[in-house]
Amino acid sequence: MRSITVLLFVIALSSVKGQTTQLPNYSCSENNASIQFTLSSSSHSASNSTSSCSLQQCNTSLNNNDNCRLSSTPCFDYRTINNISYCAPGILCSILERCDNITQICSSNNSVCVINSCCSSQAVCLPFLATQMCKTGWFSTGNMSAARYAHTASVLLNGLVLVTGGFDFSNYLNSVELYDPSTGTWTTTGSITEARSAHTASLLSNGKVLITGGYNGSFLNSAELYDPLTSIWTTTGNMINARYSHTASLLSNGLVLVTSGEGAGNIVLNSAELYDSSTGTWTITGNITNARWGHTASVLSNGLVLVTGGYNGSIVYNSAELYDPSTGTWASTSSMTNARYDHTASVLSNGKVLVTGGVDNGYISLNSAELYDPSASTWTTTSNMTNPRQAHTASVLSNGKVLVTGGYGISSALNSAELYDPLTSTWTATSNMINVRQSHTASILSNGRVLVTGGDDNSVSFNSAELY
Ligand SMILES: *[C@@H]1O[C@H](CO)[C@@H](O)[C@H](O)[C@H]1NC(C)=O
Ligand SMILES: *[C@@H]1O[C@H](CO)[C@@H](O)[C@H](O)[C@H]1NC(C)=O
Ligand SMILES: *[C@@H]1O[C@H](CO)[C@@H](O)[C@H](O)[C@H]1NC(C)=O
Ligand SMILES: *[C@@H]1O[C@H](CO)[C@@H](O)[C@H](O)[C@H]1NC(C)=O
Ligand SMILES: *[C@@H]1O[C@H](CO)[C@@H](O)[C@H](O)[C@H]1NC(C)=O
Ligand SMILES: *[C@@H]1O[C@H](CO)[C@@H](O)[C@H](O)[C@H]1NC(C)=O
Ligand SMILES: *[C@@H]1O[C@H](CO)[C@@H](O)[C@H](O)[C@H]1NC(C)=O
Ligand SMILES: *[C@@H]1O[C@H](CO)[C@@H](O)[C@H](O)[C@H]1NC(C)=O
Ligand SMILES: *[C@@H]1O[C@H](CO)[C@@H](O)[C@H](O)[C@H]1NC(C)=O
Ligand SMILES: *[C@@H]1O[C@H](CO)[C@@H](O)[C@H](O)[C@H]1NC(C)=O
Ligand SMILES: *[C@@H]1O[C@H](CO)[C@@H](O)[C@H](O)[C@H]1NC(C)=O
Ligand SMILES: *[C@@H]1O[C@H](CO)[C@@H](O)[C@H](O)[C@H]1NC(C)=O
Repeated sequence: MRSITVLLFVIALSSVKGQTTQLPNYSCSENNASIQFTLSSSSHSASNSTSSCSLQQCNTSLNNNDNCRLSSTPCFDYRTINNISYCAPGILCSILERCDNITQICSSNNSVCVINSCCSSQAVCLPFLATQMCKTGWFSTGNMSAARYAHTASVLLNGLVLVTGGFDFSNYLNSVELYDPSTGTWTTTGSITEARSAHTASLLSNGKVLITGGYNGSFLNSAELYDPLTSIWTTTGNMINARYSHTASLLSNGLVLVTSGEGAGNIVLNSAELYDSSTGTWTITGNITNARWGHTASVLSNGLVLVTGGYNGSIVYNSAELYDPSTGTWASTSSMTNARYDHTASVLSNGKVLVTGGVDNGYISLNSAELYDPSASTWTTTSNMTNPRQAHTASVLSNGKVLVTGGYGISSALNSAELYDPLTSTWTATSNMINVRQSHTASILSNGRVLVTGGDDNSVSFNSAELY
């Protein structure tokens, strides 16, 4: 019985907005020839006829398996001695490690030995990371040490991604791993005290991460804090109610609001609690009107928290409620057109909230999407996604578009991904992920890329991760 519900819930991702960092300029020099590359939208050439330094610009034809960027960006075709092609920007040759052009060995497993570069006939080690700068779509990055779904992923202030807990169909996990975007690798860090899945993780303003509740075969009320400076977890105050498939929202006053979820005795909770990180304690705040799990909670730009949809054990809600931190009370607002749970809700840059997919009272995945306008307190239907999906992810990219990935479709887990453009209110397909995934995580990195981790396909959980 539990296996069904554990499979289908959505993980509330702490919504960490990524900053776009401007990519550095690159230059390539050899034989006293110097070529500068600027990562800009203007076209360019990497050949210098007065020297032997030249690179073939990447073939950007649609058939190109390397899936390089458009020709307007300066990406070049580096070749190994076996003529395997790698697409990467022109890179300052002197920063690259030399490799033996007979054994073709680089000391780092994260590099590949290339000879046909503009650097010289000397083979050099091209970091895989550089090849990622030129690719579009999805590509693999390091594997986590543990396969997991119903876990959490939080982007820390130092740019690393903290993954905690989850389930692998046999065990609830206490392991914690950190992803370093600069190397594409994972390292294990301090474990949580209580193994858990379907918990929440919130990045606090002091840089620590608060995890709450979840499920280990029983519903949990415990909470733990991660300190990135020491890599140590400490127990903090217990919530008043044990709960899973709840939400946690960082309010503008610094408190964390935990709402609803399912608790001991499979009771769906109407309670909400506030965590004060200065005291490490929880206090009860106003009850929500409709007890629910598998709902969403979004902090609006006006400071109110919008809760949408969810399941109460017998019916799926279309209702939405607003929490006011200044009064500690809930008020109802307009209902969505569709009842849904295990859906997503994303605050767009225009302040509206995009809700996508989920499951309705017929227990069938939805393709519909709706927009909430906080200034008018109304919902309007927007275009349907191409694929129905539940237990998927939705991430607001730095260009304002929303990337939706994976989830469970009509009869199986999906690898497809779609982009919503708020300016045109339309969905377009983007390339498929390498793996199907549901109950996975998606995090916006500080370099603007999206890191997707883990998830499952209803029978197997995954340790793999991909970047978009
Ligand atoms: C790259 O070069 C262009 C043109 O020279 C310049 O406008 C831009 O600021 C440079 N970017 C960085 C990150 O240095
Ligand atoms: C490269 O430049 C250095 C210093 O400017 C000069 O001494 C050297 O002769 C030059 N080499 C070639 C091959 O032009
Ligand atoms: C091409 O190489 C010559 C000779 O080294 C150099 O003088 C010139 O600046 C280079 N051109 C560019 C665009 O870098
Ligand atoms: C690019 O690749 C396509 C398909 O592989 C090929 O047909 C085309 O000739 C290539 N273009 C260039 C300029 O190499
Ligand atoms: C390497 O591959 C490219 C295209 O895939 C081809 O045009 C070229 O002839 C190959 N070079 C060698 C040395 O095999
Ligand atoms: C690199 O890969 C080799 C073979 O797969 C492995 O034996 C070695 O431990 C790896 N080194 C590092 C630093 O990961
Ligand atoms: C191998 O590297 C040496 C420099 O260490 C260079 O002189 C030589 O031309 C290279 N050989 C090939 C086949 O590229
Ligand atoms: C990651 O794990 C998958 C199996 O889950 C395996 O097929 C793949 O080779 C691994 N990738 C790396 C880079 O270790
Ligand atoms: C689940 O958590 C409870 C409360 O901490 C604990 O007593 C129990 O042993 C845990 N169960 C498992 C299977 O870890
Ligand atoms: C909240 O609901 C619980 C029952 O679920 C009830 O015992 C409690 O009195 C309510 N609190 C408030 C402030 O209404
Ligand atoms: C769920 O909501 C329905 C309709 O409001 C209600 O009849 C039912 O008792 C609720 N179930 C639970 C477990 O609260
Ligand atoms: C969305 O899809 C549903 C069926 O899944 C259909 O009834 C509805 O008309 C569609 N809405 C739009 C705006 O295309």
